[in-house]
Amino acid sequence: MINLSTKIISKPIIFRKIKLSDAKIIQKQVNIMHILNKEKIIETLSFVKKDIKKAQNNWKKKKSFEYVIEYKNKISGTILLTFNNKYNYCELGYYIDPKYWGKGLIYKILNSVIEYIFTETNYEKIRFRCRSDNIKSCKSLNKFGAKKEAIIKGYFYENKKLIDAYYYQILKSNWKK
Ligand SMILES: CC(C)(COP(=O)(O)OP(=O)(O)OC[C@H]1O[C@@H](n2cnc3c(N)ncnc32)[C@H](O)[C@@H]1OP(=O)(O)O)[C@@H](O)C(=O)NCCC(=O)NCCS
Repeated sequence: MINLSTKIISKPIIFRKIKLSDAKIIQKQVNIMHILNKEKIIETLSFVKKDIKKAQNNWKKKKSFEYVIEYKNKISGTILLTFNNKYNYCELGYYIDPKYWGKGLIYKILNSVIEYIFTETNYEKIRFRCRSDNIKSCKSLNKFGAKKEAIIKGYFYENKKLIDAYYYQILKSNWKK
């Protein structure tokens, strides 16, 4: 069974286990993100706290591991690592503080996390699921060397509209080649 460290230091970034007191900052950042993405969603503090409690519970059960991303000593996003033992992969889900959008921080973060997974665990595949209309995310994954491996038609359902999901993947054998 996987047992991840509660703190991963990969200067200038630190990943540390999410805690309840992070809720207020996360709530502020994700709500700004929703506004910028023109999404009609508002996340309340109690919703974010409930999510963090769920994440802590999943960490206890070793089902998934959610970290806050600290950059220059400030919370700059979160990243969730979910492991699948049957198929030997780790799936990543994340957001970064809109303050850092367009500044290349996502490449530093992904580089550190992927390096950690491929060197400190036995998992050999890393997967990402993103909405087909999330151009920035798709483009950053492409640039990063992840390959689009699958399209799930109409995976998401939002405002009475079906949206496709793209699955991207990086294999350990192709990492940094
Ligand atoms: C996805 C996310 C991490 C990307 O980070 P970011 O700093 O905003 O990304 P960037 O601005 O560097 O954009 C990534 C790439 O898309 C390009 N891009 C941005 N907007 C674009 C547009 N409208 N059309 C075409 N390309 C675009 C950028 O030029 C960049 O390419 P480059 O590195 O070759 O210059 C961030 O936007 C985020 O946290 N979004 C909300 C949560 C989310 O979507 N998470 C991912 C779920 S899989």
